[in-house]
Amino acid sequence: MSRTVYVNGEYLPEAEAKVSVFDRGFLFADGVYEVTSVLGGKLLDFEGHAKRLERSLAELDMPSPISMEDLLEVHRELVRRNDLDEGMIYLQITRGAAGDRDFVFPDPEVTPPTIVLFTQSKTLADVPAAKTGIKVISIDDIRWGRRDIKTVQLLYPSMGKMMAKAAGADDAWMVEDGEVTEGTSNNAYIVKDGKIITRHLGSEILHGITRAAVLRFAREAQMVVEERAFTIEEAKEADEAFVTSASSFVMPVVSVDGVSLGDGMPGPVAARLREIYLDESRKAAV
Ligand code: PDD
Repeated sequence: MSRTVYVNGEYLPEAEAKVSVFDRGFLFADGVYEVTSVLGGKLLDFEGHAKRLERSLAELDMPSPISMEDLLEVHRELVRRNDLDEGMIYLQITRGAAGDRDFVFPDPEVTPPTIVLFTQSKTLADVPAAKTGIKVISIDDIRWGRRDIKTVQLLYPSMGKMMAKAAGADDAWMVEDGEVTEGTSNNAYIVKDGKIITRHLGSEILHGITRAAVLRFAREAQMVVEERAFTIEEAKEADEAFVTSASSFVMPVVSVDGVSLGDGMPGPVAARLREIYLDESRKAAV
């Protein structure tokens, strides 16, 4: 079935959904994005994603082509039109198509931003990996310094996933100055002696919306959380580990660079947090 896609104010069949070859997203990766998951036809953490989008746009001096209220309506309309029960909504806003290639930003009054949203139907909650856990390898973090802005510059994360695949693993954790920053498309956590350890916020990592929710639920459940950097050696000696993202929720990690954690099975903290996150997010979904 052909999807209905949203492009610059119009709902179009996917074959007719097009942007210009001069679009700055295409030429300069001059764009930001968000991924919001859908469970039971409802949006998870929409407000968090909308707020982060506004921040990403502001950090890049990019005007928003849509109000956050209208954006919620577009998300809901896409869910309706595509009969989406479970999956994701991908949103991208770029600095538009100025009609030529020029490093200098175009005047936003003359060149409006491009906005595109599409749905991806996918099983997210009941996935086998949640029961078996995933394996990660470590790779150098050679990305730019503003990883707190959710830009579409995803070539290195994409290469990281390929490196993981080539090594027989599922994903990669990126390491800078000996410390883990984050996963290629998720935030990284270890658990040691009952403590949940995850890197503190800063420009070195994306401020995950799932991270914020999971840490809040963990604290509400009286779990101890330490927001600080950890090394890959610490990770290999951890009792358990996991990652969080909008599309994977809380996903257990069972090995790091070939070293099994604990008994090699998903740990109890990750399992519990996944359950709490899914329960609470379903309740709050809009
Ligand atoms: N990725 N860190 C990075 C580098 C990410 O790309 C993501 C999200 C996260 C987790 O953020 P959140 O919890 O807000 O999804 C952390 C999305 C899902 C993606 O690129 O598909």
